[in-house]
Amino acid sequence: DWTMRAFREEAIEKIRAQVGKGRVICGLSGGVDSSVAAILIHEAIGDQLTCVFVDHGMLRKDEGKTVVDLFRHHYNIPLVHVDASKKFLGELAGVTDPEAKRKTIGRLFIDVFEAEAKKIAALGKGSADFLAQGTLYPDVIESVSFTGGPSVTIKSHHNVGGLPARMNMKLVEPLRELFKDEVRVLGRELGLPEIFVGRHPFPGPGLAIRCPGEITREKLDILREADAVYIDQIRKAGLYDKIWQAFAVLLPVKTVGVMGDGRTYDYVVGLRAVTSTDGMTADFYPFDMQFLGATATRIINEVKGVNRVVYDVTSKPPGTIEWE
Ligand code: XMP
Repeated sequence: DWTMRAFREEAIEKIRAQVGKGRVICGLSGGVDSSVAAILIHEAIGDQLTCVFVDHGMLRKDEGKTVVDLFRHHYNIPLVHVDASKKFLGELAGVTDPEAKRKTIGRLFIDVFEAEAKKIAALGKGSADFLAQGTLYPDVIESVSFTGGPSVTIKSHHNVGGLPARMNMKLVEPLRELFKDEVRVLGRELGLPEIFVGRHPFPGPGLAIRCPGEITREKLDILREADAVYIDQIRKAGLYDKIWQAFAVLLPVKTVGVMGDGRTYDYVVGLRAVTSTDGMTADFYPFDMQFLGATATRIINEVKGVNRVVYDVTSKPPGTIEWE
């Protein structure tokens, strides 16, 4: 793609001009955006970049392995893999308000990065002056308060809004002008494997915002398994690339069911799938009933702790894509 080749060259020049001989830390979330940002920055400044992948305990199934494989083995880009799940899940215990969850996660991300930046400096690599993020154009506008009317923030995206002043780090956000489909084209341009480029978007706060109410390890494990079965069904039906984003949600209610000759009292899984071009508006995906029925059966048979499955038929607006 000619336009993206030009964008790539220009972005590399801009990154070099901004960063100079400084050190950059890039947070990877497992998503396409942060991966593309990291690979682009690595191309611009090589080992002045350190990538940090924070496992906050709310990732999709096998996500950690996928990211580590991609960076260490496919690209040979050094990667610091931090298991911070105890810290995140500990601080999120008892937190049920969606904005409070997002803010807690945002704050902890900053803490973890700050600690990693100090470690890197202590290794004699020099202090990190820049923090890189895969912020896209829609992230920027959805987090901005609208002018003209009452000030409204729809959702505070954990990765927008700048850094605490004490951190003394500047942001590098090379994708700030791009929409998702453009990031994918850029990713292909940078040699990202198709299976990775085509992945559905995944929010920074991860499964936390797909688990309304209190988050526990048990609930996250159930959700991760249900989500994996759902995505497998979608791939097998050849629908993955027709859908902008699909995921499971674990509802904070248990309902009664019957299995074999016993009564069950287990969680409800909600399934979400939407079509969209930029995530700003979306339509629910019209699966056929047979697909939904077969998927519900598989989830209930394969995932312990779930005895009921529902499908979300809300478009955006009025619903958002995520449930929180
Ligand atoms: P909503 O739920 O607002 O989501 O309709 C629109 C798109 O944005 C993703 N999303 C996020 N991505 N950090 C991110 O990196 C976030 O905090 C965040 N919140 C939502 C969501 O998955 C969808 O693709």
